[in-house]
Amino acid sequence: MTSEHPFEVLTNAHVTKDIWCMTCHTPVAAQIEPGQFVNIAVPGDASHILRIPLSFSAADAQRQTLELVYAVVGEGTSRLSAMRPGEVSTMVGPCGRGWWLPKKSGRALLVAGGVGLPPVVACARMLARSGVGFDAIVGSQTSDRHVEFLLDELRNMPPEQGCDCARKVVVTTDDGTRGIHGFPTDAMAGLMADHPYVQVYTCGPLGLMGGVARIARKRNVACQTSLERMMGCGFGACSCCNVELVSGEYALCCKDGPVFDAEEVAW
Ligand SMILES: Cc1cc2nc3c(=O)[nH]c(=O)nc-3n(C[C@H](O)[C@H](O)[C@H](O)COP(=O)(O)OP(=O)(O)OC[C@H]3O[C@@H](n4cnc5c(N)ncnc54)[C@H](O)[C@@H]3O)c2cc1C
Ligand code: FES
Repeated sequence: MTSEHPFEVLTNAHVTKDIWCMTCHTPVAAQIEPGQFVNIAVPGDASHILRIPLSFSAADAQRQTLELVYAVVGEGTSRLSAMRPGEVSTMVGPCGRGWWLPKKSGRALLVAGGVGLPPVVACARMLARSGVGFDAIVGSQTSDRHVEFLLDELRNMPPEQGCDCARKVVVTTDDGTRGIHGFPTDAMAGLMADHPYVQVYTCGPLGLMGGVARIARKRNVACQTSLERMMGCGFGACSCCNVELVSGEYALCCKDGPVFDAEEVAW
């Protein structure tokens, strides 16, 4: 159940460019599912009342540890990056609805852009645990904004059950400094032509996710997308995180999502 929990920072390290990785000790780690998120109170400025919603890349239920990979984009994330091991605060979680396994048996395609990668890595762990095979496309603006240890984790997860097919982890950069020159959507067509995927999972900038959803739809492949909205409470109480649906209704990103069936979203 979503509630407030304490956390203690174990490590908080600069990874590359504006990206940081925090591991913390918290009882939420024993309950949280891939694709769900936590809403963090960063100490230090009483006027900054909003918590910071963050997905996680790894959760260890036994050790009660959570791994968060985040970009420093404003005041809250900047203060988060200044938290030192041993410092404590609170987080609300587990929040929202996470990824679900493919409804059909077969291989999945993961498509991540920028700091959309952490929840996609958590999704990959879920698939690997269930014996579902996957390939991945990971895009970033430029070569030194890729989070290398998360790419390695994608490559090194156990292979699909009963299949020795090599996993493809394709890297793209907007400026062509590494991998395919272009967006992850540019790499999708080639992979999808060669493999009959049953499910696409995506998280990243809104434009990327919309493009991924359109390609998946054209090829008649189910697609799950993890959306971001500005959030107040993180648990359905303030109605500030609306997502317009094709039905004409509105859903709450924090409670009905952040993971949605891409077919339901009015892109
Ligand atoms: C469910 C969810 C999961 C997320 N997971 C991650 C993650 O794993 N890693 C990560 O780096 N970031 C993640 N984010 C985005 C992160 O919450 C924001 O970057 C952060 O709240 C910005 O806080 P700030 O005080 O530093 O910046 P602010 O000063 O508040 O804002 C700086 C800039 O970031 C934009 N921004 C602020 N909040 C959000 C938000 N909630 N969504 C999108 N843009 C925002 C603002 O419009 C502004 O342009 C997630 C957001 C959501 C909703
Ligand atoms: S953030 Fe308050 S309802 Fe979603």
